[in-house]
Amino acid sequence: MIEPQWMGPRVRTVYFWCLMSPTVGKPPKFYFLETYGCQMNEYDSSLVSGLLEERGYRPTQDLSLADLILVNTCSVREKAETTALEKLRSIAHHKRRRPGVRLGVLGCMAENKRETILERIPEVDLLLGPDHYDRLGEVLDRPRSLAMPISALGPDRNQTYEGLFPSASANVSAFVAIQRGCDFKCAYCIVPTTRGPERSRPSEDILREVHHLVGKGVVEITLLGQTVNAWRADLSFADLLRRLGQVDGLKRIRFTSPHPRYFTESVCQAMAEVPTVCPHVHMPVQSGSTAVLRAMRRQYTRDQYLTIVSRIRRHLPTAAITTDIIAGFPGETELDHRDTLSMMDAVRFDASFMFAYSPRPGTPAADLPETIDAAQKQARLQEIIDLQMRHTFQRLDEQMGSNTEILLEGPNRREPKEWFGKTPQFHKVVVRPEHPCVAGQILPVRIAARRGQVLWGQA
Ligand code: SAH
Ligand code: SF4
Ligand code: F3S
Repeated sequence: MIEPQWMGPRVRTVYFWCLMSPTVGKPPKFYFLETYGCQMNEYDSSLVSGLLEERGYRPTQDLSLADLILVNTCSVREKAETTALEKLRSIAHHKRRRPGVRLGVLGCMAENKRETILERIPEVDLLLGPDHYDRLGEVLDRPRSLAMPISALGPDRNQTYEGLFPSASANVSAFVAIQRGCDFKCAYCIVPTTRGPERSRPSEDILREVHHLVGKGVVEITLLGQTVNAWRADLSFADLLRRLGQVDGLKRIRFTSPHPRYFTESVCQAMAEVPTVCPHVHMPVQSGSTAVLRAMRRQYTRDQYLTIVSRIRRHLPTAAITTDIIAGFPGETELDHRDTLSMMDAVRFDASFMFAYSPRPGTPAADLPETIDAAQKQARLQEIIDLQMRHTFQRLDEQMGSNTEILLEGPNRREPKEWFGKTPQFHKVVVRPEHPCVAGQILPVRIAARRGQVLWGQA
């Protein structure tokens, strides 16, 4: 380090202090961070925010203020990639007018589409895959004269970001990643390629983060993992739920997404036993046809899935069950599609995320010829959506007149006397509380009406 010669001892102290402190003496630096994709990406973005804020960066929603622009990307379907590329293209346009700004691509597309990104958006300065966010500081410290872009990619099978916490959440609810990566190899899915092999985070580190969040006012956590119930470290997943059930001040515990193969009796027992674990299971089924499930390499049959649903209902009679469904996987016949519809009738899911199959280069299914055209695929998807809407409405109507408790999230901005909340089953409820209330409070309500997919409750 070259010390300016003209400094006296006092000035020198201040000068070194300024050099050491990320914030003092320098104009603040701003970062803009846009996130696409799943909850895991949202969680990772808050890890990245935490890292940047520790280095004195402040968040901004205004691109023209930002010194650093980051886009956390998703590769799960083609549409997710085209949306992110369009966003990057518009940011690149902005960057041409402000060449001092750095542009970084994070997440699954950085792993999966490095060459495409650099070819189409040469303005990109850095690419970081999901296992390399802790290198962000080191990367930002590198002199600009070094060759760009800088990339840190590829799976790191030891990476669990132990000891790193996300930036403080202002919400009553927060995500906690307990597992990274995925060891399944579902034929359609890019996630194992972009996020590498499965790793479970130690329970001690998870509990530390949960206590930290509760200390900041969080009352509900959602544990995250691609196959979250396959989590196993020093405890089993069921015992992790029991341990979390003992955390003072934590009112609700959720988790997503469990894999049917790991939805064991002992997980159901723990859910039934721990009062703060919510009776809501989001368990992706993907298809109702055993033949398609086999081609998808999902590792369960239609009957096995239905047996697990009965197990859940036996232990948790009031549980809501939601799912993911893919329409038009290669080779799916009209009969297979009917099997998906009849599966939906058999379970009557409370809600579903429904997708048209999107071939992902590099996955095993991408080599299978598509057997229906885009219009047929869309028509099957529409039939699934229509049936799901009927089931959702039926399920919500069944709540009418019941007494439940909602976790208040906040008032309606347009109508501040109305508050939003969720039931333990994750149904959205609007209520007009009689007394002043605060976000994070649990309010007993009677369900009185339904408007669309929203329930109305009486306090
Ligand atoms: N780990 C989760 C799913 C992660 S991806 C699980 O296994 O349950 C979220 C959802 O996206 C999947 O459940 C699937 O329904 C959908 N999906 C994944 N790849 C897809 C593809 N190639 N085309 C369409 N939908 C896909
Ligand atoms: Fe993808 Fe299957 Fe892993 Fe889920 S379990 S992330 S669908 S490979
Ligand atoms: Fe999530 Fe998309 Fe990656 S769904 S794991 S951000 S491919």
